[in-house]
Amino acid sequence: MSNAFDDAYRRSMDDPEGFWGDVAEDVRWIKKWDRVLDSSNKPFYRWFSGAEVNTCFNAVDRHVEEGRADQLALIYDSPVTGNTVRTYTYKQLLDEVAGFAGVLKANGVEKGDRVLIYMPMVPEAAIAMLACARIGAIHSVVFGGFASNELAVRIDDAKPKVIVSATCGIEVGRVIEYMPLLNGAIDMAAHKPNHCIILERPEFKTVLSEGRDIDWATAMESAVPAECVPVLATDPLYILYTSGTTGEPKGVVRDNGGHLVALKWSMKNIYGVDPGDVYWAASDVGWVVGHSYIVYAPLFHGCTTILYEGKPVGTPDAGAFWRVISDHKVNVMFTAPTAFRAIKREDPDGKLMQDYDLSHFRHLFLAGERTDSDTLHWAEEKIGVPVIDHWWQTETGWSIAANCIGLHAFPVKPGSPTKAVPGWDVQILDENVTPVKDGVIGAICIKLPLPPSSLPTLWNADDRFIESYLTEFPGFYKTADAGYRDEDGYLYIMARTDDIINVAGHRLSTGGMEEVLSKHPDVAECAVIGVADDLKGQLPVGFLVLKVGVDKDHADIISEVITMVRDQIGPVAAFKTASVIDRLPKTRSGKILRGTMQKIADNEDYKMPATIDDPAILDEIKEALEGIGYASSRTA
Ligand code: COA
Ligand code: AMP
Repeated sequence: MSNAFDDAYRRSMDDPEGFWGDVAEDVRWIKKWDRVLDSSNKPFYRWFSGAEVNTCFNAVDRHVEEGRADQLALIYDSPVTGNTVRTYTYKQLLDEVAGFAGVLKANGVEKGDRVLIYMPMVPEAAIAMLACARIGAIHSVVFGGFASNELAVRIDDAKPKVIVSATCGIEVGRVIEYMPLLNGAIDMAAHKPNHCIILERPEFKTVLSEGRDIDWATAMESAVPAECVPVLATDPLYILYTSGTTGEPKGVVRDNGGHLVALKWSMKNIYGVDPGDVYWAASDVGWVVGHSYIVYAPLFHGCTTILYEGKPVGTPDAGAFWRVISDHKVNVMFTAPTAFRAIKREDPDGKLMQDYDLSHFRHLFLAGERTDSDTLHWAEEKIGVPVIDHWWQTETGWSIAANCIGLHAFPVKPGSPTKAVPGWDVQILDENVTPVKDGVIGAICIKLPLPPSSLPTLWNADDRFIESYLTEFPGFYKTADAGYRDEDGYLYIMARTDDIINVAGHRLSTGGMEEVLSKHPDVAECAVIGVADDLKGQLPVGFLVLKVGVDKDHADIISEVITMVRDQIGPVAAFKTASVIDRLPKTRSGKILRGTMQKIADNEDYKMPATIDDPAILDEIKEALEGIGYASSRTA
């Protein structure tokens, strides 16, 4: 017997234009589209071509017009600043956003210009994003845990006219000064912004650069509110940089129309949320989860969103999430499994939960990495609500696979994010681009065209877009995840097929770390692999081969490379372990056998690679891994 999910899925496959055209009626358009799906310039498919819209209007203004002016739009909850709570109704948010849009305009920002946002988890980050959308500027938010060098690369690629930042971010027990990081990045970058607008936080005051820097609060005092401007549905809303297979991040482009349509639809149909509900994504605005589910989707849907500046543990304890859920009557929450592993480790019996009223809480959604069964069962048992794993990527902007609670709740199978969501034609392929049988692992690909909100291209890099995603499996988008589908249509996402590792739900490139290590003057060759970690899912571990004749203490070299990764990529890389070895295991053609090294580290079975140059070297790797606390291996 079919259900609402099956019906929606089938229609989205058989008649994508009809399906998304109907869904799009839920959005307030300035001008309707000429074509729902424009396939005239394949493989650059465009959704809602010819339509005009404003994303900010749909996130804020429309709710003020439609009766939600006094409803809370955003609750800022910040245990790291002495339990600050600040709230914004939709009307108050509108005033702030229109005001800041006026500040951007007064500083020369026009439609199509880029604005880089390098901010901690404060409401002003969301206000700046929405203000850009209001005037048709393209924002590019950079996560606060990235170092100057990463910021400089993004400045040079996006070429922002203005950068919006703050004097500091706050991590557990320490204040992170942003200005040295920002100034360092601007010094390093070839492109210079005209202005930086700086939010001064009470926790850290700084001296602004005269002529370049503008104080946020002062500028807002004289701001002339700006109105929403029409943009094309196909115009970019934002660029979000994500790790690619080299040190160069990929600038994922998101358009206005498709994003609006798909994200609004996802709130009811995937998350089972209604307008007026309280929705909390415990992530960071610097990641795609923060873009989609802290800022945009909950506001498109008229919900109250929570912007939380804190951690699951340590701010002040493992009861922090229960406190927020209880204080703000959260209905649905979204975070990464690592956060629940952290809570479970500190409060295995869930004792801290007992102090709080969780009666409004309906569903917990997890993504960013695979949800292990232990964490799933622990969360289900302790919280007593369904725990839903769902799978997506920065590139897609929303779920590829999920248990679509608002359509039909399927039984949860541990280890699976359930089924492909309407709009996503997911196929598991072998290297000949042939679908494999159920239960067989292959490359997870999506048949083109991708549904609305998926990346139309990479910023200023159409060729890289085609080469990275569309070339290996012609006619398909390559997710770079490997996995399988079972006989019930449930998907299982098993591993990345590239050099990306997932550390505490953060996507990082080991290639990028290798580029940093290889800059050390004593390092001849290196490799970085991701090893399994109970808390963070994976952690990077480096192997260094030193140049001939280097007689420096290995501990010093290791500590120097650790500092280099922290300084050049950022603390978020969590690179803290390395080992000096005599040589790296390679194939006869010189390819480093990172996959085999990782299996040895994780104590998994591995096959001796037929093309290995010298099998004895694997014993040396095993010994080195044991020396830094990782397990021994079994050969198959
Ligand atoms: N600015 C500056 N530094 C930051 C930062 C930021 N915005 N975010 C993290 N860092 C730093 C941390 O302080 C830490 O520094 P340290 O090495 O000096 O301790 C380092 O980067 C690594 O951070 P993280 O991997 O987050 O580890 P953690 O020990 O601070 O916290 C968790 C671990 C599991 C509690 C945390 O990662 C978490 O809550 N994750 C789940 C939610 C999430 O962020 N998901 C992302 C996508 S949904
Ligand atoms: P990001 O672009 O940072 O969102 O990272 C996307 C990658 O994280 C995916 O390609 C997967 O490798 C991994 N990922 C995200 N969600 C899940 C999930 N639910 N299960 C397994 N892996 C996931």
